Amino acid sequence: MCGIIGYTGKKQAKQIILEGLAALEYRGYDSAGLCVRGTDNKFNTVKCGGRVSELAAAADMVDLTGTCGIGHTRWATHGGPTKENAHPHTSESLILVHNGIIDNCLDLRRMLTEEGYVFLSETDTEAVAHLLDREYRACGDPAEAIFRTIRLLNGSFALAIMFKDRPGEIWATRRDNPLIVASAEDGSYLASDIPALLHHSRDICRPEEGVAVCVRADSITVTTPDGKSAPAKLERIDWNVGTADKEGFAHFMLKEIHEQPDAVRRCASHRVNAAGLPDFTVDGIDPSFWTSFDSIAIISCGSATHAGLVGRYLIESLAGIPVTVNTASEYRYDPPATVGHTLALAISQSGETADTLAGLRLAKSNGLLSAAIINVFGSAIAREADHVMYTNAGPEIAVATTKGYSTQVAILALMAAQIAYARGKMTAEAAAEYCRGLVNDVPAAISAIIARRDEIKALSAKIYNNSDLYFIGRGPDCPAGTECSLKMKEISYIHSEAYAAGELKHGTLSLIEQNIPVIALATDKRYYDKMTGNIREVRARGGYVLLACEPDFAHPEEFSDDSFILPAVPAVFSPLVSVVFAQILAYEAALIRGCDVDHPRNLAKSVTVE
Ligand code: AGP
Repeated sequence: MCGIIGYTGKKQAKQIILEGLAALEYRGYDSAGLCVRGTDNKFNTVKCGGRVSELAAAADMVDLTGTCGIGHTRWATHGGPTKENAHPHTSESLILVHNGIIDNCLDLRRMLTEEGYVFLSETDTEAVAHLLDREYRACGDPAEAIFRTIRLLNGSFALAIMFKDRPGEIWATRRDNPLIVASAEDGSYLASDIPALLHHSRDICRPEEGVAVCVRADSITVTTPDGKSAPAKLERIDWNVGTADKEGFAHFMLKEIHEQPDAVRRCASHRVNAAGLPDFTVDGIDPSFWTSFDSIAIISCGSATHAGLVGRYLIESLAGIPVTVNTASEYRYDPPATVGHTLALAISQSGETADTLAGLRLAKSNGLLSAAIINVFGSAIAREADHVMYTNAGPEIAVATTKGYSTQVAILALMAAQIAYARGKMTAEAAAEYCRGLVNDVPAAISAIIARRDEIKALSAKIYNNSDLYFIGRGPDCPAGTECSLKMKEISYIHSEAYAAGELKHGTLSLIEQNIPVIALATDKRYYDKMTGNIREVRARGGYVLLACEPDFAHPEEFSDDSFILPAVPAVFSPLVSVVFAQILAYEAALIRGCDVDHPRNLAKSVTVE
């Protein structure tokens, strides 16, 4: 993770770097730093533990006049989030910032220490700085020194480097981590993502892995490991970044919760044709594609996996083809056996998650057909998958995903109908009715829940003071509960687990005692009787039951301490609705507990390390 930025040109670098870091803060926000090359050619560096706003305050106390500089916002891997561990890191001949993780850093530290280098931080990055210094001093050529250095590195990196004796230049390289360079009238830029640069330039280049890039005010040169240099090939970006403004909401998460009705409607209606049937030709996917595989292997992390679990439920129940949901960090090393033609389906909001990208690459190298459900346009996974279905949810800034998740589920729901229809498992009438429900009824139900925020806030006051809680459900409420539970954990820091309701008595019931909250989801009438049985088991042990059920659940008050009646939608769509209740419940609980909702501790929005 981490965000890196660099600028060299005619303007003052400090403000450009600070603004760029603020735009990259979703990648990590536990410490930050920047360095501007002064007019006297000295490196003037400011670092701090904490946010970019704290760095900006510290930077105001120092003379950072200069037109060439680099910056970093960190998500700690090696060493705590201290000022000492914050980037940039220096060695005799250079200073650099790093996004990524160096797996062999202990060996490198040992070797470099023996050679006389002194380490001032606990980071893996400082080993890269010293190693590069050693190679630069040996060969005197920046590109050659970069190639020699990265041959000795195991792991992932995007590096931006300033050499002491090369004023006006920033050098960069990457492996398995994103790096964008851009050219503008006033100078040249580099950053970890395109949105951080778009208001400066639309002419960008995404350097290949393992090349050395030299960024100067008026040129960007790419050198390949065989020593050939050429000007960077720039592409014109013609898309816009949506608004990254809170627009009056207290938090990005709250804003993004409110955006869900429109985001789900837009995402689904875009893929429903004039006959009212699911249709992915807008994504360049031919209808024949949907009968070209025998099974699906979903590859994803976190909430995207929870979306995948809902997708599996829908695809298997409507279309009858087997779906496996694979945690990408495991899949990349131990992919399960496949039978027949398997579609590898990567799901990722950011399109950058390192494990998901590695899983997709492995699947492709094993000959699997691939597709991806992605939000961020032009991201790494989007570029590598054979087919891409964009969720078009707009920028998601809060670390806890809301609209990103909902739109992933909306696409999976449409895929389920499309696969079922293409294979004769669903009639045209049933498919059209299903699409109408997804495009109209689901967004309306989500809006109805958002409008009842006060009711949910009152319920959050009953659970916020607990250190543990549980979500239980059956059928579609089982995969839905996994995402509800993660929302609670990540933003309110209340320990939460999701269980199949019938599974509690196989162990976890031993944790239920007086007033432990159990949030029972009951949206599928096929399971109401069984759910009431499971709820009774909890209440008999003193648990506090908050029942979130559909209007046809008879006498919820008899089975619960409190209840929330969800708007009625067909059970197959209920995971899109119940999750919104849980998002707001978690949000309100987090507020009461004084948590930083948009920036939960220890997390980052984009996880580009293993
Ligand atoms: C969810 O709220 C999390 N922030 C996290 O689990 C996230 O879904 C996961 O890291 C995957 O991210 P991606 O969708 O960008 O690949």
